[in-house]
Amino acid sequence: MWKDFGFRRNLYDTHPVSGDAQGERLLVGRQDELKRIKSRITGFKTVVTIEGPNGVGKTSVVLVGGYQIENDTKDNGKGSLVLMPDPFQLNAEESAIDFKRKVYAEIASYFIKHEAKMRSQLDLQFSLGPLEAWLENPLNLSGSVAAAGFGLGGGRVPNESVGFDLHGFFSLVDRLLKAAFNEDGGVICIVDNLEILNTSQIARQRLESLRDDLFSKHGIRWVLCGARGIVRSAASSQRLQGRLQEPIEIAPLNGDSIRDLIQARVAEFKIDNSAIPPVSSKSFAYAFRVLNENLRDTLKFCGDFSLWLHDSNQSWEDEAHLDELFEIWLAEQSHAYMDAINVPPRAWKLLDEICLQGGSISPSDHKDYGFNSSQNMRGQVQRLEQAGLVVSELEDTDQRRKTISVVAKGWLVRHHRSGYEKHEKSQDAY
Ligand SMILES: Nc1ncnc2c1ncn2[C@@H]1O[C@H](COP(=O)(O)OP(=O)(O)OP(=O)(O)O)[C@@H](O)[C@H]1O
Ligand SMILES: [Mg+2]
Repeated sequence: MWKDFGFRRNLYDTHPVSGDAQGERLLVGRQDELKRIKSRITGFKTVVTIEGPNGVGKTSVVLVGGYQIENDTKDNGKGSLVLMPDPFQLNAEESAIDFKRKVYAEIASYFIKHEAKMRSQLDLQFSLGPLEAWLENPLNLSGSVAAAGFGLGGGRVPNESVGFDLHGFFSLVDRLLKAAFNEDGGVICIVDNLEILNTSQIARQRLESLRDDLFSKHGIRWVLCGARGIVRSAASSQRLQGRLQEPIEIAPLNGDSIRDLIQARVAEFKIDNSAIPPVSSKSFAYAFRVLNENLRDTLKFCGDFSLWLHDSNQSWEDEAHLDELFEIWLAEQSHAYMDAINVPPRAWKLLDEICLQGGSISPSDHKDYGFNSSQNMRGQVQRLEQAGLVVSELEDTDQRRKTISVVAKGWLVRHHRSGYEKHEKSQDAY
């Protein structure tokens, strides 16, 4: 369908921009953040941390920062820094050893895939054959460590047929990193979406367990990203003090950059000059405001609108007409959501208050919202949650974290409830 609009692909793709030249062209309005990320990665060996609201652009800015560092250091021989382009995730079910295997397999695969580049750039004198043999054995990559028969910690007998013990693989990768990099060089690994660990207690435990192993390896630099205060909270652990850097806060993109964002995408993906973006910069900015400056959600709704436009065979005269159609469509979306929701007045009041606070609050602030205990507030939060208007994390030892957050549907409903008030403001602002 994008061809019908004159584009090679989805103009409103919600994936992070990639850590390459195209990602660099698509990323707008982040000069200061890039500078901060780069000086922290290149100047220190401690773990760089990034914190920011959901969908704000954390992963994108880190990937482009990593790519730029790689470019800047590519003539430094063994002092080069090389970006691992696919971020990792920690999840609560996975063991520390499984995570390490994932990371090491990724590093080994990267060296194998880019062998020529790595050999010449790093003057690498190291045979990749044994690593390749290890990676090619499907037993080594599928399932959990215990299931693959390594039996670490479970007292099981290692599976002889694998012919390779996991620790042998780890030390092979360690030797590779030592052969490839000097003190200044290394691979840049990103651990993304730390908030999926849910509680700061789990996040802290997982990070503490990495402190003396993966976080202190020769040849690996780490960047941690997370939303809803989890990074800041985990970084306050005594055991991690001095090892995790102070988080870099990524704020929503400045409204002035929206035009650049659309232009960059149009320039990148247009088939020819007749291409017309279904959502203009003005409409994009409007949705961006309604959706509390969440870029990922804004892009998603722009994609949905494009689909509607396409599938309903809508015709339009000019950009102003398209803007009008977008505005009506968005109002209809929020109206439709509103109609399907049934929550008590007390919960509506709470939703309005959370929105007024910028979209997230901490359960410990219950008094500010007229509840005498966080349990009482919890009941109303649950109603909002069941209606899909907010997300919240249940048990958390860190009561200061703003773990109750309004999601896209909540913002659209708010848009309806406030009589579409943001419209006039956004027209002036952009
Ligand atoms: N500075 C930017 N310029 C242009 N596009 C951007 C920028 N930042 C983010 N985007 C786009 O916005 C969307 C969300 O970005 P990204 O996934 O990096 O955000 P995030 O904060 O990591 O989100 P999440 O909370 O989902 O992890 C992506 O489609 C990405 O391509
Ligand atoms: Mg992300």
